[in-house]
Amino acid sequence: MTNSSSNLDRVLVLEMVRVTEAAAIAAAKLIGRGDEKAADAAAVEAMRAAFNTLYMDGTVVIGEGERDEAPMLYIGEKVGAAPGKGPKIDIALDPLEGTTITAKAGPNALAVLAIAEEGCLLNAPDVYMDKLAVGPGYSPDIVNFDNSVRENVEAVAREKGVAPADIIVCVLDRPRHEALIAELRAIGCGVALIPDGDVAGVIATTNPETNIDIYMGSGGAPEGVLAAAALRCVGGQFKGRLLFRNDDERQRARKWGIENLDRVYDLQDLAKGDVIFAATGVTDGSLLRGVKHRRGGILTTESIVMRASSGTVRWVKGEHREG
Ligand code: FBP
Repeated sequence: MTNSSSNLDRVLVLEMVRVTEAAAIAAAKLIGRGDEKAADAAAVEAMRAAFNTLYMDGTVVIGEGERDEAPMLYIGEKVGAAPGKGPKIDIALDPLEGTTITAKAGPNALAVLAIAEEGCLLNAPDVYMDKLAVGPGYSPDIVNFDNSVRENVEAVAREKGVAPADIIVCVLDRPRHEALIAELRAIGCGVALIPDGDVAGVIATTNPETNIDIYMGSGGAPEGVLAAAALRCVGGQFKGRLLFRNDDERQRARKWGIENLDRVYDLQDLAKGDVIFAATGVTDGSLLRGVKHRRGGILTTESIVMRASSGTVRWVKGEHREG
């Protein structure tokens, strides 16, 4: 059932798939071409055009960057065909989550977005965020930043009914995670190292098929909001804490209205109220298959769209004629 008090018309659920499909199809033309910028630009342009056909008064709150650094889908840009008239909707988007993956034809690149009523998505600055996530079914706060890595692993193992060494943790493959990876290996955990794409990495914890139990480590804060929006719909827990490398980053956070720089964010702090999350696979991944070219100029897409207020998760397969 839909929540009638929500501004997010249920019609928008399937419209969001059209938007991520458009971005994924555009980016897919550049898979493996070694040009991250071109792939990103194609996805951005297609996503923006798709948004601008929709009856909404949308504002990008998480986008391609600040106005002076991103020509399209910058933070604060208005999108939608009904400015001042349609429902006021805040948008977090990443038209191509995994630009390097796409350029190298690697796994798990997505076109992804989340929408919510005005004011419901954290305006996260483009800094790193320390992230901890688990799928649904665990006690509240089973993982948290007050615990050591070992304590978090042991707590999840206890509730899952397995040994700590049986736990699989997904981590971005980065030099900054060397100590974390060594600690996990010392416990005996499996470490699923991903080259990029931590939105898919966090969501993987909610899908038993992936075998991933916990997500740990730092990645982009905007991607943290997108992942949290997905977990609001599908279940699971997420903790995020902004990480600042210098005063410039701290200032940027203050500019976006963040006063307590040490705050630990839960799901509801990152994406509250009713939320719709949509993603389309660009390349094959743990969540979705990528765009495929079939004979006769047919393109196939695989998408997921879900809504927090109803908890409905839809898997959408699309066939599109090239044109
Ligand atoms: P892009 O699509 O913008 O390249 O982001 C990919 C990504 O891997 C994100 O999923 C992740 O949050 C972030 O980059 C990690 O940043 P870094 O590459 O600096 O470690």
